[in-house]
Amino acid sequence: MSVGVGKIAVLDFGGQYTQLIARRVRELSVYSEIFSCTHPLEQILSAGYQGIILSGGPSSVYEDGAPLPPRELFESGVPVLGICYGMQAMGYLLGGHVIPAERREYGKAEITLQGSSPLLKGVTPEDTGRVTVWMSHGDTVLRPPKGFTALARTPNCPVAAMANEERRLYAVQFHPEVAHTPQGKTILDNFLEVCGVSRTWSMAGFIDTTIDAIRAQVNGGRVLCALSGGVDSSVVAVLVHRAIADRLTCVFVDNGLLRKGEAEAVVHTFRDTFKMNLIHVDASRRFLDAIHGVTDPELKRKRIGAEFISVFEDEARKLGDIPWLAQGTLYPDVIESVSFRGPSATIKTHHNVGGLPLKMQFKLVEPLRELFKDEVRRLGELLGLPPEIVWRQPFPGPGLAIRVLGEVTTDRLDLLRDADAVVQEEVRAAGLERQLWQAFAVLLPVKTVGVMGDFRTYAQVIALRAVTSQDAMTADWARLPYDLLGTISNRIINEVKGVNRVVFDISSKPPSTIEWE
Ligand code: XMP
Repeated sequence: MSVGVGKIAVLDFGGQYTQLIARRVRELSVYSEIFSCTHPLEQILSAGYQGIILSGGPSSVYEDGAPLPPRELFESGVPVLGICYGMQAMGYLLGGHVIPAERREYGKAEITLQGSSPLLKGVTPEDTGRVTVWMSHGDTVLRPPKGFTALARTPNCPVAAMANEERRLYAVQFHPEVAHTPQGKTILDNFLEVCGVSRTWSMAGFIDTTIDAIRAQVNGGRVLCALSGGVDSSVVAVLVHRAIADRLTCVFVDNGLLRKGEAEAVVHTFRDTFKMNLIHVDASRRFLDAIHGVTDPELKRKRIGAEFISVFEDEARKLGDIPWLAQGTLYPDVIESVSFRGPSATIKTHHNVGGLPLKMQFKLVEPLRELFKDEVRRLGELLGLPPEIVWRQPFPGPGLAIRVLGEVTTDRLDLLRDADAVVQEEVRAAGLERQLWQAFAVLLPVKTVGVMGDFRTYAQVIALRAVTSQDAMTADWARLPYDLLGTISNRIINEVKGVNRVVFDISSKPPSTIEWE
């Protein structure tokens, strides 16, 4: 992407939060780009980045083949901020004393500030006299390298932050980029001040550069857009449509795994309201056949992913030569699916990334690849999409198939659809839809005993999942009011035949995930 002055490079050492760093920098109005830790340093330095942030990562600096930045980075004169593993790597390479941890420090921690530094300007101790941060690290810097001073400590971590002011090298053992470090943004802001970088990045600018980038990428070619009706694919459709107008054909694959009334709503919105060139493919049978008898979650995702692409290829063939496929892939999908620009671990295969079969004939247009959900919503608003679409809760590509635990059958899908419709209605009626990242029903693969009237029942269990989140990387279970829980439970048990119990999921992510499969 071509941009003027003011940009920061983030070197990715495989940390779960790498993109959050880049996104926080964007929130501070500075363009930032992520590079693999193996990217040639000369290229980054010669491209005029005014500061470099080293991300966290799962490695120990003492591991064989641990990724380390080139030493010259610290001689380049460009300000550097090492975060977590980035700090350990900096400490290790510059001759500090770094020890492998006896035990991992993980979660909330409180640092005690020592001395002052431009990096910690405006960071104020709380009532405890300490500052709350989020730690997630193994190795520890015991003694900073020569020329550095320790800026903070915790009981487990004698150097929780350090600086060499003269060389503008900074490092923090905790994660300033996550919401659990309440004053983290101030620290990142301070680093940008040290870099002297101009604050010129904006979402409106992103729209213009992205439209130009799409035009350049597809170079006169036609594009198919996988439209699901969610905010991601809707924003992609509008962006691509703005870029290439009627060379875009949107295809809505109805996989039979959608929520109640959803397929009809998608067709109505895009065909009638947006007047887009929309093809509605009813492929329910194909998808159900593809996952017939499958109970393994990863296999379900892979089969659905493969079917999805295959349906697209069939449609594309009918439409003639369409080389490009536009998708609303977001960064959390990418980071959790493949090793993206760095050694991140695979957690789940998300259908729109990891499940792509190799014989796929499309080249991909993925303009939202670097963004998080709430950034996409802001983009959607700027593009003039209606609030129903902008604020629609995320829905997984494999749909209800990963919420019918175990084998997926038409009957079980119908039962879940009815239960889920109750959840949607009640959450909306309670005015909580926008506050919750997601609220939905899950059909469990067990039956339990109940009693209805004078009869013993042996019937299905619905789990209610409701989470709050900023970006799906982390999530907390929503503290729904008891009355609302009561209403949802009563309605589901009374209205949905075959259900005699409703349970509420009180797990956060991590260590659980939002979806159950
Ligand atoms: P998990 O369950 O991994 O979900 O905590 C994180 C977010 O991603 C959504 N999700 C998916 N989205 N394709 C998607 O497009 C998928 O295969 C998929 N699986 C999960 C999930 O609903 C949550 O918002």
